[in-house]
Amino acid sequence: MADFDLDSSFIPALHKPSALLPIAKHHDSLLYLIEKNPVTIVVGQTGSGKTTQIPQFLEHAGWCSDGKIIGVTQPRRVAATTVAIRVAEEFGCELGKEVGYSIRFEDVTSAATRIKFLTDGLLIREALVDPLLSRYSVIMVDEAHERSISTDILLGLLKKIRKRRPELRIIISSATLQAEDFLSFFSQSESREPSDDENNEIGSIISLEGRMYPVDILYLESPAEDYVEKAISTVFDIHTKELDGDILVFLTGREEIDTAVQAVGERVPQLPPGSQSILALPLYAGLSTEQQMFVFDSPPENTRKVIFSTNIAEASVTIDGIVYVIDSGFVKLRAFDPKTGIETLTATPVSKAAALQRAGRAGRTKPGKCFRLYTEKLYRVLPDANIPEIQRSNLAPFIVQLKALGIDNVVRFDYLTPPPAELMIKATELLFSLGALDEYAKLTKPLGMRMAELAVEPMMAKTLLTASSFGCLSEILTIAAMTSLGSSIWIQRDGEKKQMESSRRKFAAEEGDHLTLLNVYQSFITKGKKESKFCHENHINFKALTRAVSIRAQMKRYLERFGITVDESLKTSVANKGEQIRRCLTTGYFAYAARMQPDGSFRNVEGGTTLHAHPSSLMFNRKADWVIFHEVMETGSKIFIRDISKIEKGWLLEYASGYYQLKS
Ligand code: CDP
Ligand code: MG
Repeated sequence: MADFDLDSSFIPALHKPSALLPIAKHHDSLLYLIEKNPVTIVVGQTGSGKTTQIPQFLEHAGWCSDGKIIGVTQPRRVAATTVAIRVAEEFGCELGKEVGYSIRFEDVTSAATRIKFLTDGLLIREALVDPLLSRYSVIMVDEAHERSISTDILLGLLKKIRKRRPELRIIISSATLQAEDFLSFFSQSESREPSDDENNEIGSIISLEGRMYPVDILYLESPAEDYVEKAISTVFDIHTKELDGDILVFLTGREEIDTAVQAVGERVPQLPPGSQSILALPLYAGLSTEQQMFVFDSPPENTRKVIFSTNIAEASVTIDGIVYVIDSGFVKLRAFDPKTGIETLTATPVSKAAALQRAGRAGRTKPGKCFRLYTEKLYRVLPDANIPEIQRSNLAPFIVQLKALGIDNVVRFDYLTPPPAELMIKATELLFSLGALDEYAKLTKPLGMRMAELAVEPMMAKTLLTASSFGCLSEILTIAAMTSLGSSIWIQRDGEKKQMESSRRKFAAEEGDHLTLLNVYQSFITKGKKESKFCHENHINFKALTRAVSIRAQMKRYLERFGITVDESLKTSVANKGEQIRRCLTTGYFAYAARMQPDGSFRNVEGGTTLHAHPSSLMFNRKADWVIFHEVMETGSKIFIRDISKIEKGWLLEYASGYYQLKS
């Protein structure tokens, strides 16, 4: 036979024609249902085309003709951005023109925008200025099955709005079969009794059967000791023993993922010479949009792509070409302890529904395999679904927002699932101590109102709004931006651990992480001239710092809208301001205070919880007495705190006597 390689003479299409997606067959019936019903619930497998196609169907059908727009909400920022990029491509427009996205601190839309992807949290914020969300002709609440707290609150708001705007179309899309719950929620009157005018006419359910190839599910014979290590070795087992096809690995968070990506990279050179190589890529929310997009590119020739992801890739983001899935069996979930008032991110066993979703990622384009890093016995005792976030989160941010929306009686708000009373009480207590609520549980003016408008959580909002009175607003703005990055500012290049450590020491402030972050930022914009060269030399993440600059500018604009001016002269040196800054942080973060024990661990104020300084913190292995911290995470059996600063006990009494009633 001639040496004719068919593949080399054809170029693959940029996109699979959308006419081949399962949703294409339902085009007409979907549009009909949406036209006819105020609420449409769309159920379909991940990858069937819900997110990318429905908004385009609607746009073409004229739902934007009178200048109104189509809003599509996502529980995650990553999903909002990646999907918008994809839809803009399919639509044939520049991102931010007809198709755009809007997430906190990043608005890529314009007057021309007709299809707008945004996080559900951001749409709730938009209701503060436009209570009836009147710009939107259609709102699609995507990934509703995840039951994120913002999704739940948004659904409650939409139910209210719908009564005043019967022409508004609401689409709820879900990858699993909770459709009935959503429909009955919208059908019930607020008293939770079915009423005459709101009978079942209000909505209908459409289900798109998705094409799925069979997926073989494999379990471990005995439990793995370390699922990250097991995941890495499974990658190499698949690579050497199985056929071609990319691998998707579900881990729980950025640190595990970075470790795994690095470990795979280090072991690749040990593969037999001439064999296929492996390209390991991370996917998690703290990455820049650019970095996230790498996972969609095809790997170089003769290379297998392995993506280590958080549960972002479970339903929100579809990556083609995955044939093997490795499921650690864990996911990081928020858990709020009403006794301590501390919210942690904890690695928790997945639910059966999530495990099924994960396995499904392997059967999208051909038959696949899913390797579960747990035993079948364990699988059988997993919960069917996770508890909705609203029942296990710190509700303070949402109470502030509901109140700002005029919903004063937050207990009687129409929740899909009502939150437990003790969570409500704890959140109200915190807001009262922060000065956001008065004794009648009304938002205070201006503090409480402004806290609702600032796009940061209440403790940071309070810190920012008090900073002027401590004369350190410019510095607190920087700290607020730096702590909201969600990714590490340090970069450790191969074999440069020592160098990175010494870079870190250069910026270290004795008082803790907050002032250290401030030092890094200030050096970056002054000595470093905001250049990547400075970052490279100091093992600093240039992209993260650039984002901090932009986030800071946006926060500053918010404050200026309230008439708060920011004095940017850096006349007084940080050293002189250190105490003011730490006092100011205490006014916001008193609820996150702890005291060091003789063994170097920390104890929260009530004394019931042992906390450990995270290795990334300056306070790791250092002496301190009282501290406040910014973030809590639980790994294995330990609770870690990070972004820690030293404070004095007296400050807690001074700024939060009501919250603690400390015995002195
Ligand atoms: O929302 P749903 O899970 O139903 O599907 P979708 O996200 O609309 O994806 C439909 C198709 O577009 C899938 O075949 C994806 O592989 C593809 N897609 C893609 O290739 N790149 C993206 N960034 C998003 C979707
Ligand atoms: Mg989708």
